[in-house]
This record gives sequence, structure tokens and C-alpha cells, in this order.
Amino acid sequence: MMMLVVIMSLAVFACKGLVQALPFPAPNFNNCNNYQGCCPVPYNGTISEKLYVFDRKLPLRTRPAAHLLDDAYIAKYQRAYRLLRALPDSDPRSWKNQAKLHCAYCNAAFNFDVLTSSGRNSTMRFEVHFGWMFLPWHRFFLYFHERILAKLLGDDDTFALPFWNWDNQSPDPPLANAIPLAFANPMYDKKVQSSLYDERRSRCTKWPNLVDLQNALECANQTLELQTTLRQWNNRLMYTQLVTAAPISRLFFGESYKLGSAPGRGAGTLEVSPHGNVHLWTGNPNATIPFSDMGILQYAALDPIFYAHHANIDRLWEVWKSLPGGNRKDLSQADYLNTQFLFYDENAALVKVQISQALNINNFRYNYEGVPNSWIHEGSDAASAPCFPASTSEINEMILNTPPLSTKNFTTFANSSITFRVRRPVEKQLHRQEVLVIRSLKLEGPNGPALNAFLYFPTANLTTPITCIEFFGKTGGFGVVFGFDLPDSKMEWRLALGYKLQSLGMDQFSHVVVTLVQLGLPQIIQLKNAQIVYFDE
Ligand code: C2O
Repeated sequence: MMMLVVIMSLAVFACKGLVQALPFPAPNFNNCNNYQGCCPVPYNGTISEKLYVFDRKLPLRTRPAAHLLDDAYIAKYQRAYRLLRALPDSDPRSWKNQAKLHCAYCNAAFNFDVLTSSGRNSTMRFEVHFGWMFLPWHRFFLYFHERILAKLLGDDDTFALPFWNWDNQSPDPPLANAIPLAFANPMYDKKVQSSLYDERRSRCTKWPNLVDLQNALECANQTLELQTTLRQWNNRLMYTQLVTAAPISRLFFGESYKLGSAPGRGAGTLEVSPHGNVHLWTGNPNATIPFSDMGILQYAALDPIFYAHHANIDRLWEVWKSLPGGNRKDLSQADYLNTQFLFYDENAALVKVQISQALNINNFRYNYEGVPNSWIHEGSDAASAPCFPASTSEINEMILNTPPLSTKNFTTFANSSITFRVRRPVEKQLHRQEVLVIRSLKLEGPNGPALNAFLYFPTANLTTPITCIEFFGKTGGFGVVFGFDLPDSKMEWRLALGYKLQSLGMDQFSHVVVTLVQLGLPQIIQLKNAQIVYFDE
């Protein structure tokens, strides 16, 4: 297979002078770089060339909301992780080996030989995060995790992974957006330490503190007043990242990633935040390895809450597809659909899957318990007010007074905010999405810098709440602490404009004025070349 890929790519190179671009074949588990100790257990069996076949006779299982579990389900859930933790290290399905598998798919363990544009062979690391593989890879990972737990329980037909419904801001007990009690309380089942507990968690996660989807690095004393604000901010973050910032597939799923392209070219809106924020909020900033377990890709899957967190991410993928407005459907490029991965199944056999199999959730025979997605309304633009109201002439003046960003050199931005204008193309491209692209964004500060973006709001600063109607996107918050040590971590940040401008009724101006605000202590951030482009999907 690898041979074939190289030969085909030579042909591509010869006629176009480009780096090869083909879907990734499955990695070779027996050819793994163990520098972070992540290599999966080598496989001695033969891997079938055929794709994994789902069990069509499996009864439909409903993944329950973790905060609504009854005692019997919690007991079963805890037993599943006790059994998993008890498997020996030689078993590829063991708790540690599953965490390693997650790490292997994210930290340079698998290398692919590719041909570069200068015609040389080069070895490139592989990474399932920060791009379009993120959602389907994790759907498969969770599915096999769930099948392994079900098998250990001897409950193939009914066991389904609970999801941690942190996007649900309802103040009524039981709280959905605090860490579920069975995870939080080490002695939840009174006799032995809960198998769902992990001691490497932030003090912020102390029950009943609420998840902070906005500012993951600190937790002030959560007074009732602060909790009310947090709920509003969380709703607003959810709405922005899933509705106005992701009206089309490319923005939601992230940038393409094919054999020969650099990893980490740009994560989708769901992956960046809320996903990344929940990881960072949960991990312990004061641990020996700061932010472990959950805040470090290498260790994240050692915390059982990882799987409940990702079940919610997986559910939100389905929610996004059901939202009105925009063009919200799965990606359809062949290089995406044909990307392959390997996983150990519940019988410890290594099986091959491909992304095309992940898109229809019915293949997996699970669905999700219905919960309110109240952020769709409570965090909406319709429920927000302008914080910087300006007339048409005031906005035209604002445009005149705001400089553009240099397209040649990096602009270093070490203050808490930066404002620049970007010219909008003269002709309206109907039916295509207007997107602001900020190229070569270096978000590499020591504390994982994060940015909020505001439209026509030049005085926005650190204290500006995202509940302002002008808020239109967020990025960062992972950086170095999230294991993002890719050789070339200049990313693109793509911010949907068309959908937002229309919903604000502000579609008539020649330029947009954009203000980026750093969260937390200002760090050195570099960026250049902000442009408006049109995306087809
Ligand atoms: Cu593979 Cu939530 O990360």
C-alpha cells in the first residue's frame, strides 16, 4: 500500500510540481516512533485488507447524560472501568494502552514518508488533532472503547458510554455543567476509590464548580453571581462557535489534512473551543507535568472523563448538522472519506476503518439521550445587545481611522488587543460564504494564548464580555500546554463573516474592522495577512 502511494505521488509530482496530496492510509503499528512512550502494542495477527464490518444486529443503545444516571448505571459504569484498569499491560485493550493509542495518533509516533515539493523524501509526523480528522477519529476511538467496556461487562447489548453534558447550563439540579459526582468524588461508591476518579485534575473541577468554557486557566471562587455570568458566557461561547462561526463544513470540521500536508493547519470551531477549553479546565495546572491529565494530549485519555467529554463532542457533531441556516453537512472530499485508521476492537483484533464509515451515526448503533441545547437560543445574537452601538457614518469613520494589517511582515501583538481593518471584495459572491482568514498566526506563548474576536468594536478589551453582539469567534487556549509542539505551528484562523454580518444587518460596509483580544496576561502573538475569501462549503 505504502509503495503504491509513493509511486502514485511521483506521478502527481512530475506533472504538477506539487507536494503529493492523497488520503492517509492506515498507519503501520509495527513501525512506530516511541519517543513519548506512546506506541501501541505491536500486532502479530494479519490485518484484513477489508474495512471493519459493523454488527448490524446490535440493538440500538442510547448514550445517557452523565448527570442523569441512576445508581445502578453508575455502579455498572464504575465496574466497567475497574475491569478495564485491571487488564494487564500486555493486553492492547487495557486502560493504559487505550490512552497510549490516543497519544500515538497525536504525538509523532506514526511517521509517513512523503515526497516534498523539492523532490526529496521526507518523513512527516501524523496528527489527528487540529484539522478535519478530529471528529471522525474520535468517534471511532470512543466506539471501540465502548465496545471493549461492554465486552468486559458481559453486556454487549445495552452498555453505552455516558456523555458529560457540560454545554447544558441549566441551574436546576442535578447539574449538567459541573463535573458529574461519580467522577468528582473519589469515594463515590464508599468502599473503594471510584474507578472514574483521577487525582490529576484541577482544583477548579471541585464539585459543584461550573465548567468555564471561556477562560480555562483560572477559577475564581465561584459565587452564585459569578455562576450566573458563567452560564451566560458558556451559552454565548457555544452559540458562537457552533452557529455563527460555523455556518459551513470547512469552518466546523477544520482544515484539510492529506498525506504530504503539514499537520495542525487549523482546527474546526468545535475542536478549538469548547473542546480544548474543557480539556484545559479539567487538567491540573499545578501537576508535575502541568495540565495533566486532561490538558495534555499525551495523557488526556488516562482520565475516564475524557471519554464522557468526547461523547458530548460527538453528540454536538450531530447537533450541529441539525441546526438551521448555513450549509451544515459532512465534508465530502474523496481524500477525507478515504482516510484510514487502525483500532483494536473488543476482541483485541486490529481492524481497519475509514472516515466514510464514520459519518452516518446509524452505522454504530448508538444514539444520544435527548437533552436541551438551550444555548441555541440563550446564547444567540438575538438574545444579545450591541456593546458599541454605532451609526452608519460612525462606522465609515471607524473604517477610515483603522489601519490594515501588514501583508508582508509579521505584526507582533504583545498588548491585550489589536484592531485592524480588512477590505471586503467589491462584488458580492452570492451563495458562497464570506470568511476572514488570518494567515500565519503564531500562538505559541508559554500559557497557551487565546484570542476573542469582535467586529466593529475597536475599544473591545480584556474585560469585554463575549455576550456582546459584536463577539464572533475564539481561538487558542491550547498552545504548548496542549502538546502542540508541531514543527511548523503557524496556523490559519478562519472566521465566518457573511452569516454574522447578515444577522447583524451590517452587510453594507466596504471593510470590516476586527479587534482581537488576548485572554489572560498578554503574550507575544504574531500574525500577518488578514484577508477575506469566499468558501464554497
Ligand atoms: Cu484527542 Cu480531546 O482530544
